[in-house]
Amino acid sequence: MKLWGGRFTKETNQLVHNFNASLSFDQKFFQEDIDGSIAHVTMLAKQGILTEEEKDTIIQGLQGICQDIKSGRLEITEEHEDIHSFVEANLIERVGDAGKKLHTGRSRNDQVALDMKLYTRKEVQEMDKLLKELLESLLRIMKEHMDTIMPGFTHLQKAQPITLAHHMGAYFEMFRRDRSRLQDIYQRMNYCPLGSGALAGTTYPLDRDYTASLLDFFGPTLNSMDSVSDRDYLIELSSAMSIIMMHLSRFCEEIIVWNTNEYQFIEIDDSYSTGSSIMPQKKNPDIAELVRGKTGRVYGSLISLLTTMKGLSLAYNKDMQEDKEFVFDAMDTTKGCILLFRGMLDTLTFKKENMRASAEGGFTNATDAADYLVNHGVPFRDAHGIIGQLVLYCIDKNISLKEMSLEEYKAISPVFEEEIYDAISMETCVAKRNIVGAPGPEAMKKVIQIYEKYLSEE
Ligand code: ARG
Repeated sequence: MKLWGGRFTKETNQLVHNFNASLSFDQKFFQEDIDGSIAHVTMLAKQGILTEEEKDTIIQGLQGICQDIKSGRLEITEEHEDIHSFVEANLIERVGDAGKKLHTGRSRNDQVALDMKLYTRKEVQEMDKLLKELLESLLRIMKEHMDTIMPGFTHLQKAQPITLAHHMGAYFEMFRRDRSRLQDIYQRMNYCPLGSGALAGTTYPLDRDYTASLLDFFGPTLNSMDSVSDRDYLIELSSAMSIIMMHLSRFCEEIIVWNTNEYQFIEIDDSYSTGSSIMPQKKNPDIAELVRGKTGRVYGSLISLLTTMKGLSLAYNKDMQEDKEFVFDAMDTTKGCILLFRGMLDTLTFKKENMRASAEGGFTNATDAADYLVNHGVPFRDAHGIIGQLVLYCIDKNISLKEMSLEEYKAISPVFEEEIYDAISMETCVAKRNIVGAPGPEAMKKVIQIYEKYLSEE
């Protein structure tokens, strides 16, 4: 059944129907469509626009449709244009004339705006929960590895020693910001468009505050034209999801590198690895690679929606139907990736000895050797030059700074004393970095307390 056959004299061309229809993807929010309709008729009855009996009949019919779709008894069939038409047609089939009153004071424009918001709101909450769980895993690892020394990198070259807790803490910060972005979006989007009609509201005395509160919104939206044509929150969400994926992707890249035979900082668990069909020795980090790879699809949703919206005059245009497939895909992809990533993280093994041995190489303590000289009165620029010469000397002899004898040190600068060895030990290098945000254990302990409080708060 069509909702709009009256003024037409010809049947719709089949290809046009197929091209125009959104049922194949908007059936994803049948539940939200029905919830919105129940709120709408409840309000219509309260306002005396429908009788109590009509309201009860319609609600019973809608609940029946919902149950039947869930149980598989009712199949969502392709002859309908969209989920809104499907539900309405089905309702009329079930309850007769009362069903024809469901759409009083409503347009599919405010209906679809509502359904998408209800669906998205739920997705934002689920995504936030998944991120919180990921943060719990990260915090656990941080607590376990406060003194697991590893090299910190810049340019993927060894730079200075850090701890695994500190490295994990960097991702904790990223995903914490991601949650706060989702929470911001929620605050901005959670206003109810229902009652905006096609674009100019309606002449019926709808109580928009009431429907908004029935559906757990903060209140109704304040401009009906904006309400039916606003997709900002989906763009914001696509942007937030793109950033989540970018963070996951960077993390995956590190996991892939750390898992290589050259690094051997970690071992991904067998349950999160895959093999090769030809090379029997292989154990590949496919999950990390796929998460990294899927980032592109989520970026796609952002660019696609920005482009769709950029030329649209007010108010609703059919272009807006294109807000769904990409964004649904991005939501499913992002949630799936967070979940899979967390599983991989929870099960991987950190090889502490290899991390520590790696930190010992590559002169990661050279800055601390220079600081030692500065602490003994040498100007920093001179100290930098002296340690540079020492590094060159060590490279030539294929030794590390700690393997040099005190005589060798003194030959380059008489300022060096026995304490230099302690000053350049990995433990000292880390422990001395004790200001807020640094890897030193005292600083890390304080940060971990803040994170614990943050996670216990909701
Ligand atoms: N399927 C449509 C969409 O997703 C529903 C709104 C239809 N409104 C209209 N005026 N054709 O946007």
